[in-house]
Amino acid sequence: MGHLIPLSRVAKLVGQPRHALQEMIRGGTLATFDGMVELDELLRAFPEVKWDDDAEFRRVTEIKDKAFAKRVFERALPDKEVLAARLTELGDDYAAAKALLRHYGNVMTWLDEKIDELEEDKSAETRHALHALRAFLLRNLDEMPPDAVQAQAAIAQERIRKIMSAHVTIQPSGHEFLVEGNDTLLDAALRNGVSLDYGCSNGNCGDCRARLLSGKVKKVHAHDYVLKQADKDAGVILLCSYAPVNDVVIEANVAGARDIPVQRLAARVKSVEVFNSRIAALHIIAPRSQRLRFLAGQSIDVSLDGVHGRYAIASCPCEDRHIEIQIPRSPGDAFAESLFTTMKANDTVNLEGPYGEFVLDEDSPRPVIFLAFGAGFAPIKSLIQHAMSLELAESMDLHWLADEAGHYQDNLCRTWTDALDNFNYLPHAPTDDPESLLGSIVVDYPDLHRFDIYAAGTATQLQRARAHFVSAGLHKARWFAGVLGT
Ligand code: FES
Repeated sequence: MGHLIPLSRVAKLVGQPRHALQEMIRGGTLATFDGMVELDELLRAFPEVKWDDDAEFRRVTEIKDKAFAKRVFERALPDKEVLAARLTELGDDYAAAKALLRHYGNVMTWLDEKIDELEEDKSAETRHALHALRAFLLRNLDEMPPDAVQAQAAIAQERIRKIMSAHVTIQPSGHEFLVEGNDTLLDAALRNGVSLDYGCSNGNCGDCRARLLSGKVKKVHAHDYVLKQADKDAGVILLCSYAPVNDVVIEANVAGARDIPVQRLAARVKSVEVFNSRIAALHIIAPRSQRLRFLAGQSIDVSLDGVHGRYAIASCPCEDRHIEIQIPRSPGDAFAESLFTTMKANDTVNLEGPYGEFVLDEDSPRPVIFLAFGAGFAPIKSLIQHAMSLELAESMDLHWLADEAGHYQDNLCRTWTDALDNFNYLPHAPTDDPESLLGSIVVDYPDLHRFDIYAAGTATQLQRARAHFVSAGLHKARWFAGVLGT
């Protein structure tokens, strides 16, 4: 087997999302071996890629950075010890390749001398054949064929990426992601939407213990939690304190909604973002020593000065310590009222959660329809960002059925459409006739049996929508609903 490259890194190299490559694999147009792509297969399947020009990749990255402006992207270099270890590995590879070339050079010299000897006392016919063989060998050694030039450029690109990032496979779930910049394994997992077990995130609790099955890691943050010698011998590491040196396989638990315990913490208000007179967002920063663990689509209780409410989280777990909650101004909701009137940056709010099981089915490769009724956009926004991090869904359509608050994050939805080939945004204005609107949406999906639907709104809105979609062919089990305020 030749030069093998993990699928996540292939996606970066060719500037395609992973789900597009998975579609090619399913369709038989891209061959893989244990989730890896062989270099010749890469060059065959993507003949149009200009390996020495990453302008397109930069363009896509810029759009994505804009689309996820609120996400904390570390563009820093890897930790210096990790960088040194990766450069040492690269140096070893280079030395091995040099030694092999030297060996081949010696073989060629020996072959040349052998041909000389054979030519001396053979027939004219044999001498002619040996002469032709020597000419063939020299010509092919002198001329680099075009696909070798391509292979050289592709390997150079891949090597640079191997210096800047490492590929991680989580077992037994099979999740894959890249660790970039100076992220730890835990930082990168969360950034990529993989919900690994953790607690304090700073080396105290030991909740992020995992086992290194292959590859090398380096400790990049000191930790107070003590790993016993037996643990170390068994390959146990702390995900919040270690970074990969090369491509690694880790045994770790990926949590579902029921695995995440209810947490209580005090956090700081970063800002209040009033979209309009009917809805506002509360941006909160969790303390460094206690991030809130949750899955996209879940809710939390938030309280300040004796008033509280339960609201859907609108941010993605991949946003580090930042938590966004979107809160409609409704009569009788004292917490919402305080958000619009008195709450300010640096106030301390108490959080309790997460609650709810309205989360993505990550094992489903089916196309997805998101239905957001009014402020139901909040959990849907979180789910969409999570789905984007995982790059799993074949396609994503967002139908936002607005209420009087309107499409208050219209620009964000349009930016997602620009950034992603598989995302469609379909805003619907407020209407007095929701039945007709739902009826007009379902007719656009004659193959609803293929889809998963995630819908968020009031119980009445969701009941009505479910009836339309199920009667138009949706499998009942593929309807996922999040009732606001639960
Ligand atoms: S999360 Fe607590 S030690 Fe890693």
